[in-house]
Amino acid sequence: MAESRSDMMQRLAANTRVGYSFDREFYCDDAVFEADMDQVISRKWTMAGHVGQVPNKGDFFVFKIGDEQIIIIRENATSIRAFYNVCRHRGSLVCSATSGNAPKLVCPYHAWTYGLDGALLSARLMPDDFDKTANGLIPCHVREYFGFIFINMTDGTPDDFDATFGDMAAILDYHGFADAKVAHKASYPTAANWKLVVENFLECYHCQPAHPEFCSMHPPEALVAVGAGPSSGPTDAVEAYMPVLEAWERRVAAMGRPVGNIDDTPDSTHLRLVMQRTIRDGYQSETADGTAASSLMGKRTEFDGGRMHLAFSPISHVVACNDFAILFQFTPRTATLTDVDISWIVGAKAENPDVAKMVWAWDVTTVQDRQITEDNQAGIQSKHYIPGRYSDQERGVVNFQSWYLNQFGLQRAD
Ligand code: FES
Ligand SMILES: [Fe+2]
Repeated sequence: MAESRSDMMQRLAANTRVGYSFDREFYCDDAVFEADMDQVISRKWTMAGHVGQVPNKGDFFVFKIGDEQIIIIRENATSIRAFYNVCRHRGSLVCSATSGNAPKLVCPYHAWTYGLDGALLSARLMPDDFDKTANGLIPCHVREYFGFIFINMTDGTPDDFDATFGDMAAILDYHGFADAKVAHKASYPTAANWKLVVENFLECYHCQPAHPEFCSMHPPEALVAVGAGPSSGPTDAVEAYMPVLEAWERRVAAMGRPVGNIDDTPDSTHLRLVMQRTIRDGYQSETADGTAASSLMGKRTEFDGGRMHLAFSPISHVVACNDFAILFQFTPRTATLTDVDISWIVGAKAENPDVAKMVWAWDVTTVQDRQITEDNQAGIQSKHYIPGRYSDQERGVVNFQSWYLNQFGLQRAD
């Protein structure tokens, strides 16, 4: 008899140990990937993009996640809608373009035509008893929040958005994300399981060997202590960095910047994080020479020597410098393919940002991350892979794995 999904996850979880990487199946197996999509990814609020991608009525883009495609489209000045990209006639994709502008959504197959609210407006030669009102596009939960567009694919009632993210409002407001403009986008599809992409982003143990450019912009003690979030480094390194961080917090709080961090525990719904910290002395921004690539974002009046790493969930991250911010989307597509999409945004009033200068750090770093993550996946696919021990600088990964298993109601053996 075929093993049930819950029996499979229970069997796999029973093999896991706190402080060790997961077994191969978690990263390679199609059945685990399906379980991940149903039980984890579909139930979370996921950052699908930014309002700067859809400034005008009828502007749309298609967000692909797992086997799903979601059309995100601006209905009017105040409303963004999301629909599954599935025609109600015989199921064709309605939008074959990945982005564009459309006054109406016309299915390319037999020309059923939908309004920006998803209603079926016309369907040729249908029988008299056909009910157009019952054949609108299937909506997906969508929410705009300080310029970020979130979707949630759950069939049931999603986690209450404001209860989940409300305490981030002051920080998001300060940084000026809501009216930001998209300056550049780039894609780095990565041949690895989504959990490996996330785990790589939640530790800075690899920063020193893998990311010389990234390290050049940061104090080494900060990278060791909190390089990938408040819980990513060893406790003694965090304690050693605290006086520097607290002095910076006092200084920037006096300038009106909301300070403090968020470090969700593994029993949280979204494992959010906010880590605000210093960059290299004398640097204004994360650029090759440390000078700014754009004008100050948000409510700032001067450069403050800090940066923020914020995660809405393990697959939705934002890094904010003083003059631009970077959106990271780690979108699961198959068991061994993850879309890594990056958007660079600048303030509403920014004129002529230096895009090449702005993109340099995270382009070079993401190309490196793609390589190391794909190599990690390839090694795990060997039958000689054995789960290995984590360092003290990979505490964020341990938290993520506990959170992941919690989504299945499972725990690791000690
Ligand atoms: S499948 Fe869309 S109109 Fe026929
Ligand atoms: Fe990295």
